[in-house]
Order: sequence, then C-alpha cells, then structure tokens
Amino acid sequence: MNAHAKPTPATARRSDALSGSARIPGDKSISHRSFMFGGLASGETRITGLLEGEDVMRTGEAMKAMGASIEKQGDEWIIRGVGNGCLLEAQAPLDFGNAGTGARLTMGLVGTYDMKTTFVGDASLTGRPMGRVLSPLREMGVQVLDAAPGDRMPLTLRGPKRAAPISYRVPMASAQVKSAVLLAALNAPGVTTVIEPVMTRDHTEKMLAGFGASLEVETDADGVRHIRIEGEGTLTGQTIAVPGDPSSAAFPLVAALIVPGSDITIENVLMNPTRTGLILTLQEMGASIDIMNPRNAGGEDVADLRVRSSDLKGVTVPPERAPTMIDEYPVLAVAASFAEGETVMDGLDELRVKESDRLAAVARGLEVNGVDCTEGEMSLTVRGTPGGKGLGGGPNGAGVVATHLDHRIAMAFLVMGLASEKPVTVDDRAMIATSFPEFMNLMADLGARIE
Ligand code: S3P
Repeated sequence: MNAHAKPTPATARRSDALSGSARIPGDKSISHRSFMFGGLASGETRITGLLEGEDVMRTGEAMKAMGASIEKQGDEWIIRGVGNGCLLEAQAPLDFGNAGTGARLTMGLVGTYDMKTTFVGDASLTGRPMGRVLSPLREMGVQVLDAAPGDRMPLTLRGPKRAAPISYRVPMASAQVKSAVLLAALNAPGVTTVIEPVMTRDHTEKMLAGFGASLEVETDADGVRHIRIEGEGTLTGQTIAVPGDPSSAAFPLVAALIVPGSDITIENVLMNPTRTGLILTLQEMGASIDIMNPRNAGGEDVADLRVRSSDLKGVTVPPERAPTMIDEYPVLAVAASFAEGETVMDGLDELRVKESDRLAAVARGLEVNGVDCTEGEMSLTVRGTPGGKGLGGGPNGAGVVATHLDHRIAMAFLVMGLASEKPVTVDDRAMIATSFPEFMNLMADLGARIE
C-alpha cells in the first residue's frame, strides 16, 4: 500500500457494544528514535514492541543506507550501530514516504556530516514545511544545496567540515524541531543548547541520555526548558521495550466512549505526561477511563486503560494543553460530536502543517457527516449530538470524508461511523498502515463494524 496505489475507501457502521482487551502497537515516536539512536550508537541495540508501521520502516531503511545493520530475530529487532560521528554517505535519496518525524529528525542527524544527503517523500510530506528544521541547521553550517520552493522536499543537504554548536530557541511547540537540533549537535564540537519555551514530548532527551549522551535539562522559573547537549561523545547500544502508542490508543478509546454499552481494556499504554492530554480532556468531559496497573517500564510510565461508554459533555480545552495531545484533536473532535453542548479547541495552528491541514480536514469531515462546527484560523468549535442521531454521511459522493493522505483523519472518521446513525465512509484507508497497521483487525476484534 502506498500513496500512488488506487485509493481504497472504508466504511464504518453503527456497532453493538465494544468489548474485550486490545494491545495496541508500539509508540511511533519512540520507535523512530529506537531505530535512529540504535543505528547511530556503538554496539548492539535490541528492541521489542517496535511499531512495524510504514513510517518507522522508512527510518530503518534510511539508517541501513547510512551503515547500520538492522534485522529481526523472532520478536526482537537487533541493530548494530555505526558509532557516533561515523554515519556513511547514503548512495541514493532517502525516501521517507509519509513520515515527517523520520524526515525531520534524520535531517538533524545527518545534516552536520560532511556529506551529501537527499530527502524525498510522498505528496503529503513534500507539501510540509522543512524550513523550521533547516533554519537552525543553517546556523550550524549546514548547506541546503537544493530544495523545492519554500524549503520543501525533495531537498539535499551538505554538512560543513566542522559544525558550529549553537544556542537555539525553538520558535514553535515542536518536538521534531527540538529533536533535529539535538541530533545535529551530536556531531558538533562543544555544547549546543536548545531552549524550549513550551514543553513538548521529551523522548529524544530521555532516550539520548539513556544511550549515554552527555545531556542535561534545566527548567527555569518561567517554566522554560534549557537542554544542553555535548557533541562528539560516545553513544552505546541499549535494550528498549517500546510501550504502546497513546496516539493510536486514542482511536479504540474514543470508540468505546461513544458506542453505547462498551467496556474495553487497552493494555500497556505509554503514560508519559507529555502525551496524555487527550485522556485528561476526555475525563473532564465525563469519560469513564480507569487508569489500571500503573507501572514504570524502561524509564517510561505505562498503564492499562479500562474504558466504558459515557455521556460526554462539551468543554473548553486549554490551548496550552495542545502539545500534549497534538495528534489527538481529530479523534477528540469526533468525541465532541457525540457530546452534549459545545467543545472549544483553540491554539491549533500546528494542526495546519501535519500530514494534512488537519484543522480543515477535520472541519470538512465533520460537515459532510452532519456535525455542526465552526473552523477558525487556529480553532475548532464542535456542537455535539448525543446519541449521534442524524450524523453520518453514507457511501455516496458528498458524504465521503477526504483523508488527504492522513492516517489520523482516516481512523478518526471510521471511529465516528461506529456510533453515528448513518455510516461514515473515508476515501482511502491506505495511510492507516503508516502508524497503525493492525487498526482494522484490532477494531473488528472489539466488535467494530468497519469494512
Ligand atoms: C513527533 C512530534 C509531533 C507529532 C508527530 C511526532 C515526534 O510533531 O505531531 O506525530 O515524534 O517528535 P511536531 O514536532 O511537528 O509537533
């Protein structure tokens, strides 16, 4: 399945109560980083629970193209890394498909190497802004030899003989930009500082420290984080158990909340506080989500979630919470469509530069399914219909949701169809494989009617 194949629509229909347990696939952010840092570090890295989605596999291929050895033995991925500073020049363009995280983090990782690297991707990825990563890299001495207009892919980087360490204040709430600078710093002499005014997911910091990087984080009186990393150190292979992805768990979770009578358990979900904004918001809306068996696994908090269908009420989501639930707004908008009253989501500017313009894609998808909503420049307001009466579009023409090569738009609207009066159809299911290849089977096992 890829962006060039003929689109394959999917339709979800009103379902009976969902029940049972589900173990969702590994976290996408941690899986990308496991391949990257394992491929870079000296010695062996062993990974279990890796997300085997298309996005992560692209990162694996890129690391192989630059000298890492990666193979699967049984349930475990075994990586032999090249050693920090020792990546090889790729002999062909690195193709990241649909994956912004893979592309942007790898630009940082190789940008400071004195070699040429070309980055290509699908129609969604080539439309996304890369200047946010190229700006700090340029400050470090990286040349952009070639790029499509507006600093977009396809693009080719060439690093300097010796990169300059910098101090960089991240201008938008983006873990990808923060991470790209930290990775570029690994191959620069001295200390690079990344200043992060709004905290985003901290997997890069935590995992790099685990691989032995000399890295410290200080949070000042204003809550601004100062991340200092010393370049040219040694990284050593690690053993990693990747926890379940909360951004994937979000789909069965919301499905169970809106399908009457449901009672499901989602096992082994990452509960890192930089990722749990959706759970908090849904609980404020009246969702019954029990956090069971909380534990620490490999330095991350994880838990099982028991979710029962609930009468939801609209809320105003604080804009400052956005970084902890940035990928979850599409499915939150679906939950809000079944809530009593109005849900106001603001501070959503970053949603416009995801795999699609998610703010517009969600608003159009809600509209074709009869949901009353208002799209602002960086906000979305949804007025819900408890019980889902009248909602849904049906399989014909104007009622179909345009997914714009965006996996989360596809999954969010398929969840909507499980509780709406009429079916919901999305124009293409192919992109679901980028982050959640098991989605269809896992949902069917819980009792969802999607075909
Ligand atoms: C990610 C960061 C976020 C998120 C993406 C994964 C990461 O992107 O949307 O799915 O792994 O660092 P931004 O940095 O653009 O917010």
